[in-house]
Amino acid sequence: MSIDRLRRFIGDMTSLTGGAWQDKDENAVVEVGAKLLGELVKHDDWLPEQAAKVPPHGYAQNLLWCDPFERFCVVSFVWAPRANTPVHDHEMWGLVGMLRGSETSLSFTRHPETGVLVPGALSKLEPGDVEVLVPAPRNPVGDIHQVTNALDDRGSISIHVYGGNIGAVRRHTYDVTTGQPNLFVSGYTNREQPNIWDRSAEVRAAP
Ligand SMILES: [Fe+2]
Repeated sequence: MSIDRLRRFIGDMTSLTGGAWQDKDENAVVEVGAKLLGELVKHDDWLPEQAAKVPPHGYAQNLLWCDPFERFCVVSFVWAPRANTPVHDHEMWGLVGMLRGSETSLSFTRHPETGVLVPGALSKLEPGDVEVLVPAPRNPVGDIHQVTNALDDRGSISIHVYGGNIGAVRRHTYDVTTGQPNLFVSGYTNREQPNIWDRSAEVRAAP
């Protein structure tokens, strides 16, 4: 178990979102970020135990890192068996990388005049897979979805990266039948972030 992978990923995402082209080409940030996240979730040997504890019901959203300028954040979502989210949006780009177990994402499109939600594609993520979420109008399909742990006998874990401080922004859940949006601020479950900076063991071991 080594947190080095997470620290390197955070460094790469910092370079990516801090680059001069970041404001000009969000698509490129999302595309490269998805590749970096894919590399991270290919390996399941780095997530600290406290950020991987399966809750008795529902799901935990543990902040692993937030960029000092809130250009991106990294969150571990830990799902109890069969747990699901309300139908919701994000108000920023998002990347979902499957680390352990499996989850499904059911997308919804919102009728521009009536607001009614129409269910769309159902995607299933397995370890190593990455799903990209980009809100309307940049993406005509939008980013409204509902996520469910695909497993009914154990927890699942996905690593999410968002283009901002996702736990501290106003966004929406939706009533599926009426399409009525409700404001919410998700927050985070954990009170303490993992320490990615204690590199003392490797320094002591160096010749
Ligand atoms: Fe989501």
